[in-house]
Amino acid sequence: MKTILVTGGAGFIGSNFVKYQLNTHTDDIIVNLDALTYAGNLENLADVEENPNYVFVKGDIADKAFVDALFSEYNFDYVVNFAAESHVDRSIENPEIFVKTNILGTQILLNAAKNAWQTGKDDLGYPTYKEDVKYLQVSTDEVYGALGKTGMFTETTPITPNSPYSASKASADLLVRAYGNTFKFPMNITRCSNNYGPNQFPEKLIPLMIANVIDLKELPIYGDGMQVRDWLHVKDHCSGIDTVLRHGRLNEVYNIGGNNEKANIQIVDLIIENVKKRLEEGAYPDIKTDYTKISDDLKIHVEDRLGHDRRYAIDNTKITTELGWEPSYTFEEGIVETIDWYLSHQDWVAQVKSGGYQEYYEKMYSKKK
Ligand code: NAD
Ligand code: DAU
Repeated sequence: MKTILVTGGAGFIGSNFVKYQLNTHTDDIIVNLDALTYAGNLENLADVEENPNYVFVKGDIADKAFVDALFSEYNFDYVVNFAAESHVDRSIENPEIFVKTNILGTQILLNAAKNAWQTGKDDLGYPTYKEDVKYLQVSTDEVYGALGKTGMFTETTPITPNSPYSASKASADLLVRAYGNTFKFPMNITRCSNNYGPNQFPEKLIPLMIANVIDLKELPIYGDGMQVRDWLHVKDHCSGIDTVLRHGRLNEVYNIGGNNEKANIQIVDLIIENVKKRLEEGAYPDIKTDYTKISDDLKIHVEDRLGHDRRYAIDNTKITTELGWEPSYTFEEGIVETIDWYLSHQDWVAQVKSGGYQEYYEKMYSKKK
C-alpha cells in the first residue's frame, strides 16, 4: 500500500491520473493537492470524491509552510508533480506566474520530499533515504524545443525551450535532475507529447475546436496550420507515468509518446468531419446546433503564436523497450471517443466556460484576426 501525493490533480491530466490510480491500485491512498486555479475543477473528480482512499487538499505548491506541513501530516511514498501553469499562450501574456508555480513550486516540493525522506548520510556525505520512495516530475516534450521536418526527441536531445512556458518547465526539470545528482534524491522525470481526451480545458487546440464547431464559431488556426504535434491519449499518458513511477530506474528520464504526428489543420478537419457526422446521425438530440452549417468555412487563419514551435515528435524507444509500456489507443479511435465525450458532457463544457473563460477568449482571439 502506497500513499501518493498527486499535485495538480484537479486539472486535465492530474484528474485522469487520480482516477486511473484509484481504479488500478485500489489499496493506495491518493492525496490530491491542488490550488484550484482557473484550470482546476473538482467536477473532474466527482466520480471519486466519496472514495475512502481519496483525499483532496486545497493549497499552493509554492507555499513552503503549507507544503512542509502537509509532508508532516502524511507519510508519502511517492510524489507525482502535475501542478503547473500549462498553457503556452498564457505564458506569452503573463510569464510571471509560470516562474512562481512551475519553478519555485517544484523546488519547494523537492525540498519537502527530500527532508521528509532523508534518513541520514552516507560515508561521502550524500543523503540516504527511506526505501521505496520516489518523486516523479511530469515534464514535457516542449523542453526540447522544436524540430525541423525530420528527427525525433530522445531523452538525450539538448534542452532548448522556446516559450516562457517551456522555459519554466525546463527549469523545473533541470532542478529535479540537479537534486538527483547533488543529493542522490530518488526521482524520475517523464517528458510527454501533447495529450488529448476527457476533461481538457477548452483553451487547448482540441477541446477549443470541438466547442467552437458545436457553437458554429470561427475556428482560429494559428499561421498556416502546418505545425505538427505528436498526440497521445491522456489515459495512455497516465499508464506511462504509472509504469515509470513503479518500475522506472531511479534518476532516469523517460519520454512518453504514441508515434502519432499530425498537423494542426488535419486535427481541425477531423473535428469538423466527426462533430458534423455525430450530430447528423442524431446521436445528441439535446444539442440544437444546425449541423448543416458545419463546414470548412468555419476555419480562419489568424496571427501566429509568437515563437511558435514548428514540430514535435517523441522517440518512445526507451520506455517501450525497457519498461514494456505501450499506448493502448490509436488516434483514430481516441479522437472519435474524445469528440463523443465532449458532445455528451455539454454541462461540463458550459461550467468551465463560465467564469473567466469568455473574457480570456475575447482578449486572446480578438487581437489575432
Ligand atoms: P492543467 O492546466 O489542466 O492543470 C493544472 C492543474 O494544476 C490545475 O488543476 C491547477 O489548479 C493546478 N495548479 C496550478 N497552479 C498550482 C499551484 N501553484 N499549486 C497547486 N496546484 C496548482 O494542466 P494539464 O494539461 O493537466 O498538465 C498537467 C501537467 O502535465 C503539467 O505539469 C504540464 O506541464 C504537463 N504536461 C502536459 C501536457 C499536455 O498536453 N497537456 C503534455 C505533457 C506534459
Ligand atoms: O507538447 C506538450 C505540450 O502540449 C504541453 O506541455 C502543454 O502543457 C500543452 O498545452 C500542449 O502545448 P501546445 O502549445 O502544443 O498545445 P495547444 O493545444 O495550445 O496548441 C496545439 C497546437 O495548436 C499549437 O501548434 C498551437 C495550435 N493552436 C492552438 C490553439 C489554442 C491553434 O492553431 N489555434 C488555437 O486556437
